[in-house]
Amino acid sequence: MSSSEVNKLFSLQGKVAVITGAGGMLGFHHAAAILACGGQPVLLDIDLAGLQRTQALLNKEFDFDVISLECNITNLSELMGVRQAVLKRYSRIDILINNAARNPKVETAENSVNFSRLENFPMDQWEQDLSVGLGGAFNCAKVFGGYMASSGQGGVIVNIASDLGVIAPDQRLYRVDSLEDHMQPVKPVTYSVVKHGLIGLTKYLATYWCEQGIRCNSLSPGGVFANQDDVFVSKLTQLIPLGRMAQPDEYRGAIAFLCSSASTYMNGANLVMDGGRSVW
Ligand SMILES: NC(=O)c1ccc[n+]([C@@H]2O[C@H](COP(=O)([O-])OP(=O)(O)OC[C@H]3O[C@@H](n4cnc5c(N)ncnc54)[C@H](O)[C@@H]3O)[C@@H](O)[C@H]2O)c1
Repeated sequence: MSSSEVNKLFSLQGKVAVITGAGGMLGFHHAAAILACGGQPVLLDIDLAGLQRTQALLNKEFDFDVISLECNITNLSELMGVRQAVLKRYSRIDILINNAARNPKVETAENSVNFSRLENFPMDQWEQDLSVGLGGAFNCAKVFGGYMASSGQGGVIVNIASDLGVIAPDQRLYRVDSLEDHMQPVKPVTYSVVKHGLIGLTKYLATYWCEQGIRCNSLSPGGVFANQDDVFVSKLTQLIPLGRMAQPDEYRGAIAFLCSSASTYMNGANLVMDGGRSVW
């Protein structure tokens, strides 16, 4: 295979990719992967400052005009407005990356109730986490996937799940020895539910629009190193065969692969990139 054939395989020239949660840490790298392949990312996020940060970083790395739109993916009418704006500007949508999440925090409560524990976890937080992580992905599939299915040009949907969409969180990672059991911090239940749900949504979408040429896969990243505390990192890396957490740019190749013709026969799959954590 020649290098020009490889370039052609990964080329996203002329393709428009809508990326949700693009104002966050990995959203920037997904957008960078799309740009590196010659595609046009459209950045969506509820966080305007985050969008501005991503745009500034992209401007540093690429000499390319990128649009970003402030938008709440739980709001269907906002998404319809975004679709209209994107089609007005580019006349096409080819790729959707469902990346946005609330990423519920592991809470360490010293003197009161620990609300991240299942026994205390509030229903309204359950609803909000699911509404963004699953409801938002569903809305975006409806709005952008629905358009791609009707366009006659096919398309690609990538759902960003997690290694915790495949395995349960190991709550021992979050343990604080000085706290009693009922106060121990835990990874909230909604994280697991959202990520497992996204893998289910992936399979549903992979078969739903297959005749319209829409492929849908999920990417399950392992934890990214972001200056977490040393004890946590040391406990976690012992569970990872590669012996380290991921760097934030290590998923760029997977995004390029999943969005391009390099993966034309991949549909309904979950690409797990977790340093081997889930196989141990
Ligand atoms: N960082 C990791 O270690 C890791 C590991 C595995 C999976 N993931 C997954 O990768 C994705 C990106 O992770 P990240 O670390 O960049 O997270 P992040 O928190 O930095 O980014 C998530 C973005 O989603 C946006 N968002 C939240 N609610 C929204 C809404 N209603 N409408 C529009 N945007 C909304 C946030 O504003 C934020 O910018 C997430 O789905 C996350 O669960 C991350």
